[in-house]
Amino acid sequence: MSDAMIYFDNAATSFPKAPGVNEAMSKFLAEDAANPGRAGHRMAVAAEQMLDNVRLKLTRLFVGDDPSRMVFTLNGTDALNMAIKGVLGEGGGAHVITTELEHNSVSRPLQAMTDRKTIELTRIAFDDDGFIDPDDVCKAIKPNTRLIVMTHASNVLGTIQDAKAVGAIAREHDLLFCLDAAQTAGVLPISIKDLQIDLLAFPGHKSLLGPTGTGALYVGERCPVSSLVVDDEARLNPWREGGTGGDSSTPTQPAEFPHYLEGGTPNTVGIAGLGAGVEYVNQQGIGKALAHEQAMVQTLIDRFADDERFTVFGTRDAKRRVGTLSLNITGYDAPDVGSILDDSFQIAVRPGLHCAPYTHRRLGTFPDGAVRVSPGAFNTDEQINQLIEALDQIAG
Ligand SMILES: Cc1ncc(COP(=O)(O)O)c(C=O)c1O
Repeated sequence: MSDAMIYFDNAATSFPKAPGVNEAMSKFLAEDAANPGRAGHRMAVAAEQMLDNVRLKLTRLFVGDDPSRMVFTLNGTDALNMAIKGVLGEGGGAHVITTELEHNSVSRPLQAMTDRKTIELTRIAFDDDGFIDPDDVCKAIKPNTRLIVMTHASNVLGTIQDAKAVGAIAREHDLLFCLDAAQTAGVLPISIKDLQIDLLAFPGHKSLLGPTGTGALYVGERCPVSSLVVDDEARLNPWREGGTGGDSSTPTQPAEFPHYLEGGTPNTVGIAGLGAGVEYVNQQGIGKALAHEQAMVQTLIDRFADDERFTVFGTRDAKRRVGTLSLNITGYDAPDVGSILDDSFQIAVRPGLHCAPYTHRRLGTFPDGAVRVSPGAFNTDEQINQLIEALDQIAG
């Protein structure tokens, strides 16, 4: 089926995966697929070494200091929950600043805590082009603000946010800064140091071109293990507790990274594949896929933004976006456009709310949503032309 299909749903998960991912997973599964453990037999040690290798690659890619603080997670959602719930615990009346651009994996845990009245929440609005003004973040800071959680790029509009300015604001006011890099990890250069990120959450299955079931959270040094610093507001509680393949003697999670946060058998097969994805991204060089995706998005903007049959959301400058664009056709519901593209043109896009209801409310597209087109590293100009042709025919 996938041969015939033109896949423009890379913002959900990339397809195809990088060359070498299948092979790395099959090889690991065939040869080394023991449960990792430092004190175990040689296969267990080999599995642990594979994990540590991938940890190191990811830490270098994102310019972190300490590979042991690169904690593997199940996906982006798991990483974000680990960060948000880890730092806030029951909330304790802390104030949190977030934005209207967030995915539900940020909005829902924060809203649930707000409903329980354990945190106070400010959601910053975005402008008509799809950008947050860092000054608004600054103005929202209160004496009890503890955390800023923001997406690096909107998964609806693709708009790249000024993470550097927000990171600087957080540091200046001694707040923690959690960046959701779900849409940017693998396409934009991200430096934990330069952007002053305390918690970097990202999936491995989008632009890092690894398999589903992978992701990571880099925990900066300003987030210490809770049991070591009981009075520090930045202390981090484990979100999952259990076996760690390391020290089994302690009654609670061992107070060392990454085991502190990595309870349970990890997705070793997936992480072996993620390693190959990261290798490929490194070989290509960060920026190549982005330029290719931005060029395809610019073609779509140039074709449809001034066509009155269409509404194109967000900035017209594709250089300010990752490879994502949402549009609607006048007179058609987004799900219908998605179905027609799928059934009649074998083109996969993502209609709906994209797990970002606050973004769609602000765009005026709630509850039906919009049609999201997200080209990836392996799409071609020819495929974009086929999509343009198909949309043109549907719009009549
Ligand atoms: C901005 C953003 N944050 C978080 C997530 C959640 O990632 P995952 O699907 O890996 O849980 C997504 C997924 O689409 C996303 O686009």
